[in-house]
This record gives sequence, C-alpha cells and structure tokens, in this order.
Amino acid sequence: MKLGEETDIVDLIVRVFHEFVAPQYSREGVTEFRKFVRAEDLADRFKAGNPIILAQSEGKIVGAIEMRENSHIALLFVEKSHQQNGIAKELCRRAIEVCRKRNQNLQRITVNSSPNASSAYQKIGFICVGNEKTVNGIRFFPMELLLENYDNSQSVNSANPKKPDYPDVRGS
Ligand SMILES: CC(C)(COP(=O)(O)OP(=O)(O)OC[C@H]1O[C@@H](n2cnc3c(N)ncnc32)[C@H](O)[C@@H]1OP(=O)(O)O)[C@@H](O)C(=O)NCCC(=O)NCCS
Repeated sequence: MKLGEETDIVDLIVRVFHEFVAPQYSREGVTEFRKFVRAEDLADRFKAGNPIILAQSEGKIVGAIEMRENSHIALLFVEKSHQQNGIAKELCRRAIEVCRKRNQNLQRITVNSSPNASSAYQKIGFICVGNEKTVNGIRFFPMELLLENYDNSQSVNSANPKKPDYPDVRGS
C-alpha cells in the first residue's frame, strides 16, 4: 500500500466484513472489529512496519492483506465480485514472501480465521490448531500454515494461465 490509500482499503474491508463476517458475530464482535479497522490506525500500523499488500483491478483496490509480527494474518479481505479468482491465495503468497525475507527462520504463519473463511484457508494450506473461540464477540478458528510444507514459488498468474484478467497485486 501507499500512505493515502488507507481510507479506500478500509472501505473495502468494512463492505466485505458486513456482508460475509458480521452476520456471524454478536454486536460486541462487530463493534470490536470496527475499532480495529480505522483508517488512521491502519496507516499507523503500516508506518510501524506491518506489511500491507493490495490487489487492484482497473485502478480499484479489490483485495488486501495485513500481516503483524511478520507471521500472523491480521486482515485478509477480497471484494465479493473478485472472490474465487485466487486473489487471497496470491496475497498470502506475497505476504509470506515478505515475512520470510524479514525472518529467514520463520516456521509458521498463523491466522484467527472467521468461520466463513476457514475452508478457503484450508485450501491455501492452513490447518485448524484449536477449537472455535470467541473473544470480545469475535468468533474464530486458530489456524496455522507450516512453511516447511508450503510451496511459495508459484504465483497464481503462472499457476492459472487461464485467468488473463488477474488483477495486479503489489507489495508494501
Ligand atoms: C476468505 C476470502 C479472503 C477468500 O478470498 P478469495 O480471493 O476468494 O480466495 P481464493 O480465490 O484465493 O481461494 C483460495 C482457495 O480457497 C477456495 N475458496 C475461496 N473461497 C471459498 C469459500 N467461501 N468456500 C470454500 N472454498 C473457498 C478457492 O476455491 C481456492 O481453492 P483452490 O486453490 O483449491 O482453487 C474471501 O472470501 C473474503 O474476503 N471473505 C470475507 C472476509 C473474510 O472472511 N476474511 C477472512 C478474515 S480472517
């Protein structure tokens, strides 16, 4: 991302969150999540070093991933109209690449997956490492991806040559 894009990123996240995630949360969970995705806080976390990588299509942001502590997926959201095109997979691949460069001994990537997203994470290679939890109204499955089993060499573009309209993914 570039500074100045935080409002557009948060707009995307909030829109997708309300459609796919919020219906499974209590009111407390929705409020808690909204506190985490304020534009100024996102910009501050980016300035402090969190990798935030975006997917764009026709000049619009259609996907975003934020990593924290170079090992944990804090946010991953893809525009409804662009889902199931490999964008989340490619954002994970790029984010893992950045994290691995920063920590060459990195062994695992973790995520607290919202219930609706756990199948997609499983297909990317994550496994559940605990039962469903609820903290401050936020429901999630703790999941992890062991990097020794992860092939980070194939981008979605090369893995799916039949998807010529694949959006541009660019890094932090
Ligand atoms: C979860 C999410 C990020 C996935 O994004 P996406 O770009 O559609 O995912 P991809 O296209 O990269 O899919 C990766 C794999 O998961 C599969 N997949 C994607 N969405 C899926 C779903 N809802 N159910 C089952 N499998 C799914 C894809 O088929 C693909 O599998 P394959 O590699 O075997 O073909 C997106 O659905 C989303 O933004 N959901 C709402 C927000 C959310 O819950 N974010 C996670 C917060 S922790």
